[in-house]
Amino acid sequence: MGLAKIGKEALEAKLWLEKGEVIGIPTETVYGLAGNALNDEAVVKIFSVKDRPHFNPLIVHIASFDQISQYVEEIPVLAYRLAEKFWPGPLTMLLAKSDSISDLVTAGSAKVAIRVPGHPLTLELLQNLNYPLAAPSANPFGYISPTSAEHVMNQLGDKIPYILDGGPSTVGLESTIISFEEDKVIIHRLGGLGIEAIEETAAKVELRNRSNLNPESSGKLKSHYAPATALVQDPPEVLLKKHPPEKIGVIAFTDSYPSIPQNNQQILSQKGDINEAAKNLFAALRYLDQQTLDIIYAEQFPNEGLGRAINDRLERGLARNKDD
Ligand code: TXA
Ligand code: MG
Repeated sequence: MGLAKIGKEALEAKLWLEKGEVIGIPTETVYGLAGNALNDEAVVKIFSVKDRPHFNPLIVHIASFDQISQYVEEIPVLAYRLAEKFWPGPLTMLLAKSDSISDLVTAGSAKVAIRVPGHPLTLELLQNLNYPLAAPSANPFGYISPTSAEHVMNQLGDKIPYILDGGPSTVGLESTIISFEEDKVIIHRLGGLGIEAIEETAAKVELRNRSNLNPESSGKLKSHYAPATALVQDPPEVLLKKHPPEKIGVIAFTDSYPSIPQNNQQILSQKGDINEAAKNLFAALRYLDQQTLDIIYAEQFPNEGLGRAINDRLERGLARNKDD
C-alpha cells in the first residue's frame, strides 16, 4: 500500500472511509484507527491492521448525543446527565446495543461502547458521514497508544492510506470507560475524565478498573509489541547499584535527577500540572523506549484526577501487561 498520506482534510478522510478503508483520526484522548462501524469488512480490516484479537471489542464514535438512539436500546437517566456534561469528551459509555451494531464490533457482547470524541476535525468528519466510526487506539496491539499523527505513521503508516492530522492529542490518555448498574456508575477503565468529575454528577461510583472488560484476553496473550524497556519503581539510587547511569531512563513529574543523564529523563510537567503530565506521558514513554536503555524508573504520581490514570498506565507497564 505504500506509506499513508498525512493531511488535515476531513473531506479526504471521508473519501477513504466511503471506500471501506481504515484511516488514522485524531481525538482529544489518543489517535484512533477508524472505519465505518456499520460495514463489517471495514471492521474486520481494523482488527487486521492493528493485529488485534477479534474478541476485543471496539468503541463506536458518534457526532453527537442525538445520534445515540440509533445504536443503543435504552438510555439510563444517568447517561443523559453524563453525556450532557462531558460529551464531546473523554468518556465512553457501555450501553445495550441495538441491532444496527454488529457482533463483530462488540465481540459478541450485548453492550456497545460509545462516545462523542472532543476533537474539532474528527467531529467535522463525523458530521459529514451517515455512519458512526469504530475506532480502537491506532497502535499495534500491545503497544503504547499514539498521541500524534507521526506516532501513527511510524507504526501503521504502511498499512493505511490516510492519517487525518489534528495535532497532538490534548488529553493524552484513553477515555474513561463506564457502565450503569441501577443507580450506580461502574468505572471499567480509568482514563481522560477523572473519577472526581463523574462523582460530582452521579451519586454512586464504583471502581472496577479493567475487570470484566475483556476477560478472555486478560493476561493470556504475549504481545510482540510490548515496550522493550522494563519500567520499575526502584528509584535511581537503587538502580545505580546495578546499571550504569547512561542505561537508566526516568519518567518524572516535576524534577529531574542529577545522577542520571538529562537526555534519558522525561519531565512530564515542570509546573506540577497533572493534566499536562497526562498529555505528555505516552510520547515520553515512546521516546524512552527508543533509547537503548536497560531500565526506566517511573515515579508514582499523585493519586487524584488524571494522576490515577497515569499510575494505572505505568503499572501496566510495570507488570508488562499489554495495551489494547
Ligand atoms: O480514548 C479512547 O477510548 C480511544 C479513542 C480512539 O477513542 N479508543 C480506545 O480504544 O482506547 P481501544 O480499543 O484501544 O480501547 C477500548 C477498550 C478496550 O479495552 C475494549 O476491550 C473495551 O474498550 N471495549 C470496547 N467495547 C467494549 C464493549 N462492548 N464491552 C466491553 N468493553 C469494551
Ligand atoms: Mg488501545
